[in-house]
Parts: sequence; C-alpha cells; structure tokens
Amino acid sequence: MPNPDSDSRNTLPIERGFPIEQVNDLADREGRAKLYYRPLSTMHKWWARRLGSVFRAITLYSLVDDPDSVEVHDPDQTDLNLTDFGEETGDGSETDIEQLIDAVSLRDPDALWDLYPKDVRVDGKKVLDPFMGGGTSLMEAIRFDAEVTGVDLNPVAWFISKKELEAHEVDIEALQEAFDDVRESVAGDLQSLYETACPHDADHVADSVYAMWVRELDCTSCGETIPLFKDYRVANGRYEDDDKYNVYCPDCGSVFLTDDYKSESVCPECSHEYIPADGPVTRGGNYGCPSCGLKYPIVDAIADGQSYSEKLYAIEYYCPDCEDEGKERSTFKGYKPATEDDFTQFERARDGWESDEDLGEYAPSGEIPKGAITAASRINGNDVFRHGYETWQDMFNDRQLFCLSTLLSAIDDIEDQSVKEYLLLAFSDSLMFQNRFSLYNVSGTKIEGIFRQNSYTPRVEYAENNVWGTRAGRGTFQNTWEKIVNAVEFAHHPTERYLEDGELIQTEPFEHPVGGTYSLHQGDIREVDLESDYDAVITDPPYYDNVVYSEVSDFFYVWQRLLLADEYQSFTPDATPRDESIVANPVVNKDAEAFEGELQQSFSRIREVLKDDGVLTFTYRHGGKESWGALVQTLCDEGFDITATYPISANLSEFMMGDELSFSVIVVARPASGREPISWSSLRRRMHRASRQVRDEIREGQTISEGDISVVELGRCFREYSEHHAKVHREGAVMTADEVVEEIYDIIAGDVSPDEIYLDLLAMEDPTLDDVNRLCRGTKINPDDLRDRSLFDTSDGFRLTNWADDDRLAYLKARDIDDLTALERVQLLRYDTEQETRTMDELREMEVTGEMLDVATDLATVTGDEAYRQLFRD
Ligand SMILES: C[S@@+](CC[C@H](N)C(=O)[O-])C[C@H]1O[C@@H](n2cnc3c(N)ncnc32)[C@H](O)[C@@H]1O
Ligand SMILES: [Zn+2]
Ligand SMILES: [Zn+2]
Ligand SMILES: [Zn+2]
Repeated sequence: MPNPDSDSRNTLPIERGFPIEQVNDLADREGRAKLYYRPLSTMHKWWARRLGSVFRAITLYSLVDDPDSVEVHDPDQTDLNLTDFGEETGDGSETDIEQLIDAVSLRDPDALWDLYPKDVRVDGKKVLDPFMGGGTSLMEAIRFDAEVTGVDLNPVAWFISKKELEAHEVDIEALQEAFDDVRESVAGDLQSLYETACPHDADHVADSVYAMWVRELDCTSCGETIPLFKDYRVANGRYEDDDKYNVYCPDCGSVFLTDDYKSESVCPECSHEYIPADGPVTRGGNYGCPSCGLKYPIVDAIADGQSYSEKLYAIEYYCPDCEDEGKERSTFKGYKPATEDDFTQFERARDGWESDEDLGEYAPSGEIPKGAITAASRINGNDVFRHGYETWQDMFNDRQLFCLSTLLSAIDDIEDQSVKEYLLLAFSDSLMFQNRFSLYNVSGTKIEGIFRQNSYTPRVEYAENNVWGTRAGRGTFQNTWEKIVNAVEFAHHPTERYLEDGELIQTEPFEHPVGGTYSLHQGDIREVDLESDYDAVITDPPYYDNVVYSEVSDFFYVWQRLLLADEYQSFTPDATPRDESIVANPVVNKDAEAFEGELQQSFSRIREVLKDDGVLTFTYRHGGKESWGALVQTLCDEGFDITATYPISANLSEFMMGDELSFSVIVVARPASGREPISWSSLRRRMHRASRQVRDEIREGQTISEGDISVVELGRCFREYSEHHAKVHREGAVMTADEVVEEIYDIIAGDVSPDEIYLDLLAMEDPTLDDVNRLCRGTKINPDDLRDRSLFDTSDGFRLTNWADDDRLAYLKARDIDDLTALERVQLLRYDTEQETRTMDELREMEVTGEMLDVATDLATVTGDEAYRQLFRD
C-alpha cells in the first residue's frame, strides 16, 4: 500500500473529538462499581487495570469510520436490527451512521455517543493490544466484532485474558457442577477448621470470618515477649455500637467495647487500666518495650535473631444459627477474644499440613526472588526479607497452607481442563485475601487484600480469612467463585450501562456475547511473531516504575503454575520473566532512560505491524513536560504523527489518592506521512491558532475544566508539530521535541505577543475585527494592544497595516531601539531599504537574531514581498 499523505488519509472520529464529559461521568461510576459494569474484568486482579467504559469509548471512536462496514443492533429493541441507525428523529428526517461519524468534532464530540449502548458491529477490523495486561481492551474490541490479538510478556496476564475471552463459550452448568464436586469433597473440612464457639449460645457453633493475628517479638535487651500492636483496636463498633470501639486487653486478652480508644479505658474482665490507642509499636517500625523501656527497630531485632512468632488474639465471628433465630445483628456478628479452642483448630490444620506429604505438591515451594519491591529499593516496597520472609510459603500461615493446598488439590481433580482453569482463577484471585499481608480495616470492618500498594507490605498484624468462606466475609473462595460465575454469565449476555439525563440505564443483554476471533501471545512485544495488517492498536503501555508487574504477579504465578506448568510452556519457569519486562527497575539496571528506550522499541514494532492508514490509540499517565517530550520524540521518531490527546479519569481505586498518576490521557497517533521543514516562528503561530481554536470549539460543545481543555490543546499542538518533526528550525538549528514541548506549554498558557497575533491574522484570508477578538481570547492580549501598536486600522473598515502605513511607522520610529521586537526591527529595516539614504545604521549594526530571520521569511511568504527575504542577504 502506498504511503498515504495526510490529506488523503481519512481522519477518524477520535482525531476530531472525544466525548470527554460523557466518558468521565461513566468511568467514575464504573470505577466505584466494577462488579456491575464490567463483571468480566473483575475475574482476576490485574494491576492498574483500565476501565472498560474508557476502552469501549476509545474503540467506538477509533473503529467506526466507514458507514458501509457498520451495523448497529439495538439491544432494547430486539426485533429491530438497525442497519441504518436511528430513523426516528421526530421531525421525519433521518440520521444515518454516516452523518453521526461525520458530525464528530470538538464542538459535537457526542455525535457518535448514541452508539455507545448499542450492539455495534464493525466489519473487517483487526485490533492489537501489545500490552494487554488484564485484557480489558480486547474484551471491548471483540464486542465490536473486531478480530483481536493480545500480547503480554506476563504469563499471568495471558492466562487471565485467555479465560476472559473464552468465558462466552463455557457452559455455566458445567462450571457449577465442578464447583459442587469440589465443595462436596473439601468445603466441610475446610469450614470446620474455622469453627468457633458462639459467644451467645453454647449449643451453637459459629464461624470465624476473620482470625486476627499479631506478631510477637522478644525484646533484644530484656527478653520480654512483646505483641507488636500499633494500637489495641480490634475494630470500630458496628450497628447500634457504631460510636464505640472494640478493643483488646493486653493484660487478660479479652475484647470489650469502649467509648473512646484514645483515652483511658478499663477492662471489665481484669480491671486493667490503659489507653488502647497506645500500642508498643511506634512510627518508623520501632517497638517500645513495656518492661525495660528500650526503643528498638523491629527489623534489627529480627536480624539480631530474636524469636519472632505470632499469636492469634481475636476473632470476628458470625453465627448462622443466631441469625436464623432472628437475633440482632450485633449478636450474630461481632468480635470476641481467641481462646485455647480456637488455637486448637489452628493446630489441627497445622498437623494436617505437616503430616500430609502429598499436599506439598499443591503449595509453591521456591524462595522469593530478590527484586525491586521484595527487597527494598528506590521503588516503594518494604524489604520482605528483613521481616523474616524467605520462601513463598512464608507468606501464608500453616492453616492457610493446609486449606489452600487441600482446595487446590481438589480443583486439580476436575477433568475438564477449561472448567478447572476457572476454578483455579477463583482460587488464585482469592489468594489476595488469604495471606499474612492482608490487613483488617478497622474502620471499614473488612479485610483488605495484599496489593493495596502494588507491592508487598509486611504486616505486624494481619487478618486470616475463612478460606472456603461462610455467609459473611469478603475475598473467600466461595465469594470469588460467585464473582467468576457472574462474569461468565456476563460474557454470554453482556449488557451496557449508560447515563441519560443523569439517570443510569442498563440495556437489555446484547445479541452478541463477549467473544469472537482472537489470538493471545505470551511474550515480548518486540519479539512476538505477528502479521502486519492491524487496523488499530489500542493499548495501555507500562509507565516507568509505576507497577513492577513481574514481581507482583509472581505471587499468583507460583500457585497457578502448580496446575498449569504441564499444560503451558510459559508456566514452566519458577517465576515470571523479568529481563524483557518494560519497566524502570533498578534491580535489573533499568533507569528511566532505559525504560524510554524499550518503550521506543515497542513503538517501532507497533508501527511495523500497523497498516499505513491504521491508528494507534493508547492511554498514558499525564506526566510533566519531560515525559511528554520523551513520548513525542519517541512516537515521531518511530514514524507516528500524534494527532490528538484527551484527558480521562483513571481508575481511582487503583491509584493512591493525590497521586499525579491518577490523571491520565488518551493519545491518538497515526502513521506519519511526509514531513515538511518549517520555521519555529511559523510553527509557533500555527500552534497558537490551533490551540485557540480548540479552546473556542470545546467551549461551544462541552463543559470541561481549563486543565482538561489544555490537554486537548496539547494534542492539537503535537499534531502541528508532528507534521514537521525533526524539521523545525529556530535560529539556524533544528529543535528537539523536548524543546518544542517546553514551548508548547507556554503557548497553551496563553503566553502570546501582539506581534504573533498580527502575524497570524496576516496569514488569514480575509481577517476581520472578529478574528482579532477571537485570536486574543484565552491569551493575555487585548485587541487594544494591537490597536495601540497600530497593527491594524479601522478608519475605513478593518485592515491590517504594514511598515508603509504612517501610523505604524510613527509608532515604530518612536520606539526605543533596544526595546524593538523582531517584527518591529524587520519592518523598520524593510522601510529603510526604500529610503534613498539609509538612516537606520544603528539598527543595521545590531545582531540579526534567528527570530528576525524567521519573521522575515514568514512575511515574505505571506505578503509575497520578496524584499523581506533580501534584508539579511549580505
Ligand atoms: C499498564 S499494563 C496493561 C494493563 C491493561 N491495560 C489492563 O487494563 O489490565 C502494561 C502491561 O505491559 C506488560 N509488559 C511489560 N513489558 C512487556 C513486553 N516487553 N512485552 C509485552 N508486554 C509487556 C506488563 O506485563 C503489563 O501487563
Ligand atoms: Zn525489654
Ligand atoms: Zn483485661
Ligand atoms: Zn449463635
């Protein structure tokens, strides 16, 4: 195919506009209730997952370009298959898809949005996600009937994506039967290990929802055993006690309610007086010994070889019998001290784990590899080794190991491999809440999984979940399974949720399931063998050291591989691939620059596999000028033009609050056509014009913040720049993308001079006073600033002046020679060439700046007055 030039290349809707407001409204809601919007993407944890609604909108605006290849089905009008969408506009006229496509602009970004909740099928599109992660983009693209290809280096990502895309084919009954078999064989045993006495009725057996553990350390100085509590809160009070606190008595081990944990409380059992807020552990990881008063770092005491063990101290229980008898919520669910009996249950499991040699096969056996977030490094994370962890098994207590391995072994007995893998997925996802890193959220009264910070954070206190699960609780195997079944059902009958006049509406199920033609590859995008005919690459690339995927994913991988190593080659190694992983990671000696280089290599590969008229659309964190400079340079170097950028909400629950990374952008790029040289001054004016136009159009079409508008302006400036990449001349030198980006920020900030507006006006066909007003809007310049400089004349209609105008000349001559701008000097010199005797010697002797050269060239081009070009030719 010949290289299309930018004039003949069709512009895609996404290059002309994007429904920022609509998408962000919806994305915010999805972020808070993913289970309801996109059950499929909740099948298994993947870090920094993007929201489905964002990818759906991106896909719609990137793929729908040719009305002849689009079919629309309305899930809410099943007997109506609208090949021509939307005949009923009320006034008898027709809006067809072609009109919708053509109408998309910054003024009317929502034109295509009507199709968002429809079953839209686009014929013959091939879509690639080279960094598929949790597969979100693929699930969205395949719903448009695209043929999708996904690549990820990480086998866990590959496995998750595979199970998501297979889900529409799996028989839900077969899943349920397999689950029932596993329940038959192990649920009773596993649940019995978490039984605990009902505190209200000796005839009842209640369940432990969460067992609370605390680490104990022997004081380096006096040998006293210290339970490492930060404070003695077990949980905030619930229901009618929600203004109180459940606290633990360090003296007698009872759990009681107190009004204020920050002031002195008295234990009703032993009369011990203490302030529950003051535990022995202080900030910075030190303990204070209550016996000898020593303050000492916990990790140092561990390194000294002090005994470091753990103690079961409290239980959140739930009693099904009490609930069935209609007792109050605070009766059937609450907190109680752990007793001897509870510990006996634990020991029973421990014996099981120690005595059953076959179980060892069903728990990971290796050591935790040293890495950027397992061993402390510049990247966030705590050195798990200094907290006594050496092997993967150390991340779990013995009861967890027994229950998990028993469960995994039962899952392994399932005959149907595909069905087995769904149970494995539930098992694996549930691991997040079944380990020694899971915290009890005292105020939310629920367990929190291991990856709150995208890393391993050793805890001095942790909550042990009920592995199989009971009616209450979160993250158990049983709960996770329900989530998976729900997701599989969605894959068979997907729906869409959208907002209409602020009201949330859910469509009827779509005619087409979440499925179609796909191929998935585990491997390095720079190496994987792919065809070279993709219409679109839609992706979310890694971002510097934001997530060290290879390390965090090992947590799941080491368990998954126990059942998958025999099936799939990529699950045979001990850990996930690290070296080829594109990430800034000091442990594999990759700094930010190395990351940028690797990302560049993948863009190069993406360019190779993309059709010449294809599109690359990706989400990226909104970094500062520097990261934009690197990205623009990289994309342009690899043969892309950036044609648009838009702000989007990130998935807030995935990022720390206040994190600048939570601000994200969509970048749209097309294979580059020929690039023309340009002077910086002229490019700069184009960018000014483009960015002001963006501003005007957006303001007519939608209500978004100034900051959001500037992101769109940024994109338009990149588009202007891309067409001249590596050919922008300033003062005799070629500008780098970095330098241009730096300047673009000033342009967007409205840092523009009256002269520049004048030059812009000069380049227009028939400028009017309205144009002066328009070009000044959003800048610091007033039309009067131009008038004061006699840059235009309104005595007889509107007219731009030049050096020959009396008023302008008078203004120029009155100026202090040292204050003259480039334009002013050039105009004066031009005037001087017309004089019989030159009078401007002083001006002639001044140094000629690059800016003057550029302005002179521009003036010559725009006015056709070649004398400008001759000014500096000697
Ligand atoms: C930001 S994540 C994608 C997340 C995804 N969009 C989602 O919503 O779940 C980036 C992905 O790039 C993958 N990756 C890193 N280096 C890679 C390489 N060399 N080739 C392919 N994939 C790679 C990581 O494993 C990670 O899953
Ligand atoms: Zn001591
Ligand atoms: Zn007490
Ligand atoms: Zn009871």
